[in-house]
Amino acid sequence: MATTRDGLNWPRAQALADAERAAYIARNPESEKLAAQAARHLLFGVPMHWMNDWSTPFPLTVRDASGARFRDADGHDYVDFCLGDTGAMFGHAPPPVAQAIARQSARGYTAMLPSEDAAPVAAELARRFGLPFWQFALSASDANRFVLRWLRAATGRSKVLVFNGCYHGTVDDVFVDLVDGVPTQRDSLLGQVHKLTDHTVVVEFNDLPALEAALAQGDIACVLAEPVMTNIGMVLPQPGYWDAAQQIIKRRGALLVIDETHTISSGPGGYAQAHGMQPDALVLGKPIGGGIPCAVYGFSGELARRVEHAKRSAPPGHSGVGTTLSANMFAMAAMRANLEQVMTEHAYQKMFALASQLADGLRAAIVRHGMPWCVTQVGARTEFQFAPSAPLDGTAAQAILDSELEQIIHLYLLNRGLLITPFHNMLLVCPDTSERDIEYLVKVFDDCLALLI
Ligand SMILES: Cc1ncc(COP(=O)(O)O)c(C=O)c1O
Repeated sequence: MATTRDGLNWPRAQALADAERAAYIARNPESEKLAAQAARHLLFGVPMHWMNDWSTPFPLTVRDASGARFRDADGHDYVDFCLGDTGAMFGHAPPPVAQAIARQSARGYTAMLPSEDAAPVAAELARRFGLPFWQFALSASDANRFVLRWLRAATGRSKVLVFNGCYHGTVDDVFVDLVDGVPTQRDSLLGQVHKLTDHTVVVEFNDLPALEAALAQGDIACVLAEPVMTNIGMVLPQPGYWDAAQQIIKRRGALLVIDETHTISSGPGGYAQAHGMQPDALVLGKPIGGGIPCAVYGFSGELARRVEHAKRSAPPGHSGVGTTLSANMFAMAAMRANLEQVMTEHAYQKMFALASQLADGLRAAIVRHGMPWCVTQVGARTEFQFAPSAPLDGTAAQAILDSELEQIIHLYLLNRGLLITPFHNMLLVCPDTSERDIEYLVKVFDDCLALLI
């Protein structure tokens, strides 16, 4: 059976890993000192436990970030292809957002009332995404949670359907995987006391008969999906998949929620607009405010009517939707500037060209070294995967993940001033990334492959 390490000289790869760890330690004394200080009062030594999931022996401390670049505490400069795992997809501190929040910073942050930015932001979202009614949250996780709640309330159906290997943030409902074909609660989920498999149905992506069979029961409120899976490595929809899937979902009386948090890399209106999909609801977090914490979700006219009816029919009191700081004035100002001046068609055209240059360069390096790997691109998002062709579902995608191998490559890049996403092998470009940055990344990647075989 093929493995992710086919074509590699594994003892050589492990020796490279040791050398790169030693080089990292020697190169980053200030980050090491700061990490030791942080460990005194930060649980796990970092502000969020997952900041330990990088390839580095201790966390790299960032001093400042701008555009496609950041500088660490030891004064090294990096080209950032991680871009906050999409939070900074349009570059760090884009000037229009920086100016908008600087302006807003002297005009108040939160008042539990709409600011003058609210209506223009909602109008722009409606224009871009083709859904007329919008609400706000502080993170994509929250937005997904709220949408599931609204849709269960609106439909009177209790179940949700997700695709095997999905990630939609810290939404408990969706942490259900297929293990040997059996829906199973994800072991890694902490402190969960409810039986998630009672209300979550999981099928493989690209499997239309499984989708049809699951929806035939008539108890599923909605399908929550990324239009391209991006969180277990990328899994592309097969040609015609979404057309057929949308028809099935509609015929079975369920609703389709598209989570564009990562696939917004596909264009100013996300993957759904770029590919003529017609979801009932759409979620987008991370880069929508240029990296300021905020997220949005939109509903079709028909769904909005049902949601409003559900709320008006409920007794007064806590709805379970919303947090105090959601839709605050600060986030609204950031979203308005970002939507109007940063997430533009022009910016996307630039990013697409850069991402294609990157994908072509990575492919050429892979071919040059005879590696049985492939490269997948979704707009401004590119990924190299440890298999000759892209996986078709979550199970296949899971099988080709190899975190040890990933970390060797990531650390090799990092020690040479290049940051890529710590999970699998995803790279983003922003409008400020240059062709030279990409040439440099491809060269270093090529050098790394030469040391692995
Ligand atoms: C598709 C998708 N949706 C939602 C989220 C959650 O975003 P956040 O962690 O900002 O809540 C993520 C995070 O990676 C994601 O990839």
